[in-house]
This record gives sequence, C-alpha cells and structure tokens, in this order.
Amino acid sequence: MSVASLFKPFQIKSLSLPNRIVMAPMTRSFSPGGIPTEDVAAYYRRRAEGGVGLIFTEGTAIERPAAKSRDEHPDFHGHGLTGWARAFDAVHEAGGRIAPQLWHVGAVHPDGTDPDDPARPVDTPSGIRAPAGAFGRPMSEEAVQDTIDAFAAAARHAAAIGADAINIHAAHGYLIDQFFWALTNRREDAWGGTDIADRSRFAAEVIRAIRAAVGPDLPIIIRLSQWKQQDYTARLATTPDEMQRWLDPMTDAGVDLFDCSQRRFWEPEFEGSDLNFAGWVKKLSGLPTITVGSVGLNAEFLTFFTDQKMRPAPIDELVRRLERGDFDLVAVGRALIGDPQWATKIREGRFSELVTFDRSVLKTLI
Ligand SMILES: Cc1cc2nc3c(=O)[nH]c(=O)nc-3n(C[C@H](O)[C@H](O)[C@H](O)COP(=O)(O)O)c2cc1C
Repeated sequence: MSVASLFKPFQIKSLSLPNRIVMAPMTRSFSPGGIPTEDVAAYYRRRAEGGVGLIFTEGTAIERPAAKSRDEHPDFHGHGLTGWARAFDAVHEAGGRIAPQLWHVGAVHPDGTDPDDPARPVDTPSGIRAPAGAFGRPMSEEAVQDTIDAFAAAARHAAAIGADAINIHAAHGYLIDQFFWALTNRREDAWGGTDIADRSRFAAEVIRAIRAAVGPDLPIIIRLSQWKQQDYTARLATTPDEMQRWLDPMTDAGVDLFDCSQRRFWEPEFEGSDLNFAGWVKKLSGLPTITVGSVGLNAEFLTFFTDQKMRPAPIDELVRRLERGDFDLVAVGRALIGDPQWATKIREGRFSELVTFDRSVLKTLI
C-alpha cells in the first residue's frame, strides 16, 4: 500500500501544509496556573520535528471566569499567552505549523462545583447539565455576547503570536455543542429554537466575530461531533438534510474547514452510503474536512481510560478514503501522544517500528 496521498501538500488561505497529517487536540493538563511550561513547548516541538503537518493544541480556555474546569488547563489569555508564544515559536523553529483550539467547557465541571459561585459563575445555554438536569442558570444576553467577544479576543491574540490557523472547539458536549444540542439548549430567544439551524447561530456568531478579529486570510476551523461525552450515542443530525441545516449557518459565517470528530473513522454516518462524518460534511458544505478517530490503532479513544493496550493497526482503509476524496486531512490523536515520530515512521514505511502503548504514557509529556 502506498501512503503517498498522506504526504501531498495542502493549501488553504494563508496556511500551507507539507502533508495531510494533523495532531488532534488533546488536553494534557500540564499548564499550572494556566501557563504552558517549557515542557509543553518541547512536547509540541517534538511533533513538528516528527513530521506532523499541522498541530492543534489541546483545548485552551478563552477569557470567561468558568471557561475551564481545572487549574492545569492552559489559558489563551493573560500569562497563558507567554507560554503559548514559547510553544508556537518552538514549533515554528522546527518547521511546523500550529493552531490553538479555543475552548469553553460550558456546564462540564466536576461534581461539587457551585454553578452560582460569584467568582466563577458557570456559563450554560439553559441552566441544564445533561443528563443530570438543572445546573446553573441560562446565560444572559450580556454573557452570550461577552463569550463571543472572548472567543474573538483569543483569536486576535493567537494571530498576534503567530498562529497558523484557529480551531474552535464546538464538539464533545462543551459550551458551543451545548448550544447545538436540543437537550441542553431550551432557549426561546435568538440563541435557541426547535430547528438545528437556530441552535447553530451561536457557533456562527463566534465564527463571524473571529473572522472580524483575524481578517480574511487566517483559516478558521471548527471541530464538530455528533457524540457527546455525556452520551456517546447522541446525534445532532439524524439525516443529511438536518446536517445541512446544522452546517449552513457556519458556512455562511465564513468558516474555512470542518474538523469532524468521530471515534472510529470508518463508520458510515447515514444508511445507504459508506461515507463517514467528514465525508458527509464535505459533500454537504462543499468545504474541506478533517477526519479523526482510531487512525493507526486497534481500539477507540475510550481505551485510554482503561488498562487496555493500544496496538498499531493498518491504515489502508484510511488511505482508500483519502484517495477517494472523502476528506482532505487526517487527525491523529493517541498514536501521536504515544509516539512523536509516528508521521515520519508512516512516511518511511517503518510500520514495524510503530509502538504499542497504554494509558501510562499520559503521566508525562513524552
Ligand atoms: C487524552 C485525550 C485528551 C483529549 N482532549 C481533547 C481536547 O482537548 N479537545 C478535543 O477536541 N478533543 C480531545 N480529545 C479527542 C481527540 O482529539 C481525538 O478526537 C480522539 O482521541 C480520537 O482520536 P484517536 O482515536 O486518534 O485518539 C482528547 C482525547 C484524548 C485521548
């Protein structure tokens, strides 16, 4: 099997990539006080040296009081920016490209969190934490606007410290996804509604504000998922038509690329076609897409939270779909946490050198 298609260049607006391999955004919690350390910079630098085309940082918090749920999650404001500037420089020195994943957790906070703590009031669309029920209160119009402004401010900071693109975290049951999801968005104002197009408006306004902040050339990428950490079987769009109505507001707002999160990239999205999530999003939006989900490994990502070993798996099916044009880029998560040289090994056909690993690799930044 030839892997040549994975190593073709890709260009979108000001972003030129030497290949199709993207490091998926992965929270590592090694940024005490919200400031990425030198070790974090070196960790991302190793992935650039290892031949990754585009690195997405872990989710990094916008400037809202409860945008993150742990002190060790990095901030994308204040002193956090000093650490990120160091990481971006390290990646660029190694010839890589890097984009921050801008994040707000919404209602996803540890048990025992007081959602009304005046120092850190929690932001949620409708005061609901799925599936448990009431949590906090619906965001005021002012809070919604301030959150949109905070995404835009973070993007402006990102451009100023040399980001190669922006990734907006709108997946996995966090704040923007809580706006998409009918279970957690019960609003009857302009930020909610019975149609998914209505619930897509918040994401669209975040994109518009970011575009105004960074100008026309910096690519804006948004990460979407059907699944939620609160419910792995949840689906926002159950038909292509519904998916179209979900995507259109974001496309109209000027997003450049959809990052389509699945747990297993080979699973068909709708009956009657083998197209996966990224395949359908590309077909319906006409925009380039990224696929992700168990690339190069024999088990899906939840195994990271068990004692199971993760073994290398063939990538033939991935290459077949890439060559067919289903998607444009391929994000790799755990395989890159376990092995910074993964992309180089794939390019050079050193498949026997791919490593088996388990969750112990999460203890340090290798
Ligand atoms: C430790 C860990 C942390 C993650 N953190 C994030 C995150 O901050 N943002 C995000 O969008 N996805 C996050 N994910 C999901 C990954 O980006 C990716 O979509 C998922 O692991 C599937 O890819 P894989 O099968 O190649 O690992 C995380 C996954 C893991 C294993």
